[in-house]
Amino acid sequence: MANLAVNFAGISMKNPLFTASGTCGFGRELNDIFPIDKLGGIMVKGTTLQPRLGNDAPRIAETPSGVLNCVGLQNPGIENVLNEQLPWVLQHDLAVLANIAGNSPEDYAELAAKLDGVAGLAGLEVNISCPNVKAGGMAHGAAPDTAAAVVRAVREVTKLPVVVKLTPNVTDVTVIARAVEEAGADAISMVNTFLAMEIDIRRRRPLLGNTTGGLSGPAIRPIAVRMVYQTAQAVSIPIIGMGGISSGADALQFMMAGANAVAIGAATMVEPTAGLRIIDELNSWLDKEGVGDINEIVGAALPGGKRA
Ligand SMILES: Cc1cc2nc3c(=O)[nH]c(=O)nc-3n(C[C@H](O)[C@H](O)[C@H](O)COP(=O)(O)O)c2cc1C
Repeated sequence: MANLAVNFAGISMKNPLFTASGTCGFGRELNDIFPIDKLGGIMVKGTTLQPRLGNDAPRIAETPSGVLNCVGLQNPGIENVLNEQLPWVLQHDLAVLANIAGNSPEDYAELAAKLDGVAGLAGLEVNISCPNVKAGGMAHGAAPDTAAAVVRAVREVTKLPVVVKLTPNVTDVTVIARAVEEAGADAISMVNTFLAMEIDIRRRRPLLGNTTGGLSGPAIRPIAVRMVYQTAQAVSIPIIGMGGISSGADALQFMMAGANAVAIGAATMVEPTAGLRIIDELNSWLDKEGVGDINEIVGAALPGGKRA
């Protein structure tokens, strides 16, 4: 059997597969279906200082090969996450990234400082890319100076690995990626959802309660792969790739584009055990190809066959 373990930015995983933030809560519901310890890691639901109820319904719509959501960071708030959610998920043998969102660099720093002492936490995922809210919203992540300001504020208060989650809703994602690398990010996760909308033609109104939402699922995969491929050539910090992954072959595309690890979001919502199947498919592919270690394929599709 090939080695599936990956190690990057101070984060160790038994395999490179995370479940993406917002699509698996804090892991409890998924663990009712299969032991979440089989996953490489979990990025838990985006957490804010205060509890949030999220946006008005409807908040989810199906689209051709995709899902449109405007959940709006519904979460129980940092105190509940610290006292109830993280202690439960941290009993399990997988890398846990806490995903944080704020209104300002100060909010992000406060959240990061509260999480800094949590034993066993693998790192922070700093969400500057949600299209559905002002707090944690892509307003922070869509310009290099505001993105860097959040990362600097978080970097100052924590020794945990800082993974910065980028929005695809920009003209050139590499500009933002370079800015967060310079500001002290240890890794990048990409991409969050694409700003999108549907019209309910019967009501002649926007379908979603928040007018617009974020598109994810297979429809966005080739765009996300392109963005990882570009970013892998623009920065030297590791990348966690995501966007429409629903098979081992999809995950391999992201890794060949330069990602050290991957995450699945919408796939779990369609097929709760998708993560297990994808890990099996990665194993089978590596065995069939005679590749002894998954790390060997990271960046294989880049010019020169690996990350510089
Ligand atoms: C219902 C839903 C809720 C989400 N909530 C969050 C969130 O709280 N924080 C975050 O960083 N990303 C959130 N995302 C974005 C996903 O983590 C992921 O970046 C995106 O869905 C792309 O991956 P996918 O195509 O595999 O779903 C959410 C996505 C969905 C579908």
